[in-house]
Amino acid sequence: MKKFTAFLILAATLISCDQSKSYDEFAQVENKKQDYAIIPLPQKMETSNGIFVIDENTQIQASEELSQEAEFLADYIGEIAGFTPAIKSDRDEVERSISLKISIDFDQDEAYNLKITHEKVVVEGASAKGVFYGIQTLKQLLPLKSKFQNESATISIPAVAISDAPAFNYRGMHLDVARHIFPVAFIKKYIDLIAIHKMNTFHWHLTEDQGWRIEIKQYPKLTEIGSIRKETMIEKNFDPYKGDGKEYGGYYTQEEVKDIVEYAAKRHVTVIPEIELPGHSRAVLAAYPELGNNTGPYEVATKWGVFDEILAPKEETFEFLENVLTEVMELFPSEYIHIGGDEAPKTEWEKSTQAQEVIKREGLKDEHELQSYFIRRIEKFLNKNGRQIIGWDEILEGGLAPNATVMSWRGNQGGIEAAKQKHNVVMTPNTHLYFDHYQANPENEPLAIGGNSTVEHVYSFDPVPEELSTEEAKYIMGAQANVWTEYMKDSDYVEYMILPRMTALSEVVWTYPEERNWEEFKSRLTEFKKHYDEMDLNYATHVFEDSQSIKNEPTAAK
Ligand code: ACM
Repeated sequence: MKKFTAFLILAATLISCDQSKSYDEFAQVENKKQDYAIIPLPQKMETSNGIFVIDENTQIQASEELSQEAEFLADYIGEIAGFTPAIKSDRDEVERSISLKISIDFDQDEAYNLKITHEKVVVEGASAKGVFYGIQTLKQLLPLKSKFQNESATISIPAVAISDAPAFNYRGMHLDVARHIFPVAFIKKYIDLIAIHKMNTFHWHLTEDQGWRIEIKQYPKLTEIGSIRKETMIEKNFDPYKGDGKEYGGYYTQEEVKDIVEYAAKRHVTVIPEIELPGHSRAVLAAYPELGNNTGPYEVATKWGVFDEILAPKEETFEFLENVLTEVMELFPSEYIHIGGDEAPKTEWEKSTQAQEVIKREGLKDEHELQSYFIRRIEKFLNKNGRQIIGWDEILEGGLAPNATVMSWRGNQGGIEAAKQKHNVVMTPNTHLYFDHYQANPENEPLAIGGNSTVEHVYSFDPVPEELSTEEAKYIMGAQANVWTEYMKDSDYVEYMILPRMTALSEVVWTYPEERNWEEFKSRLTEFKKHYDEMDLNYATHVFEDSQSIKNEPTAAK
């Protein structure tokens, strides 16, 4: 008998065996360790023998309030299996069903339990968000789509009982769309990645010296002029400067922004917009030079770095910013609005009689206190509208605004200071969580800004600095990686820089440090990377090779 015929007979036998396998036999199936390679690692997980088999008769049961989650799961099963389970609204668990429920038996809003036996699957959450995370875990236990080329395949899920909840409430990813802009479809893919990793915040960096990227109806010149730069510096040709001679621009319309915010909400991801002030504002000044310190003419920046040109602290500027932020608040329902606050040199304010008059009028000590005055005014306006501000750690200089949350980027120090002052903190230190830094030997890597943070180094990060007492540590809301895109010209480049570092970060913010183990994580990551392949992602592979080619050196601030 020819080998190929033998293979066909064997395959047909296996398929028919599977179909005729009695229901009780499903309880006996032995599962393998790699069937449970879940990232981030759940708090409690008990594995056992047995599989739950999904077929055309399997139903999803969910109450009305979970209809979105039920549809999300049904669509996913539809994608991998070729049939979409029916959704029933009854609450009673029946055998052979996947049941989604909200329960009051949790003390954390994002907690969930997932129980899989050969008879049924139950996903129970403290909220729709908790149920959504239970579904994310379930997705990792399902076989990959690529296994289902053959129509008679069945979907089996290994038996398990999981109780899970995150270590931190804020689990974020930032993306700079100003240095380079990315299509709406990629922003959605980025949000998908955030959701798959059970992260909950997308920090959308929308304005910069090199481009303003959000439509503001009252100020059309922000996009007509501010979204376009005449060219872009080639690689790192700062001095002598060398530009590419090609105009570069683009922005998101308000309709696109609404669509993205809605897409994210369905995946329980909050979008926090960042409108930079008073620095990183050359694109604003190119459009509305009257908001500057009489140092024009201005043009949208074509190279990277920190520029002296900043907004003038005058009434006209505050009126402009309040109008812009009013439109921003209409688009983004997030509690937080990020107001930037970083890298705002004070040289222009030192020389400006107008700025000096404000210092005198308000009884301020210096230009740092003037920046603090600037931020406090913006905070007051946003608080009045029911929002909170978050800003880079420079907002500590000259005194923190009363309710501000601090994003600690120049290492941990800003976060430590803010927590000691009883202010909330998000840790995004450039020592570990700058994904624009190299992740392996720069000689063999695409151009990056500098620094160095391997996947292992990211994994070693603890969001709670040891300098803090237990009481102070409560102000650490969580952590986020920052993705500045000066050198990332397209979405493939971004994917390469964030993966697998983002996967390491997802465990840093979800799983308690005492439960984390690098070697063990690495073996789960090897399984998890199959999802990267399924999503057609362009990821870095160093960690899957024998050894990483570099050690971490301390990173310089950008
Ligand atoms: C920053 O990297 N300038 C926040």
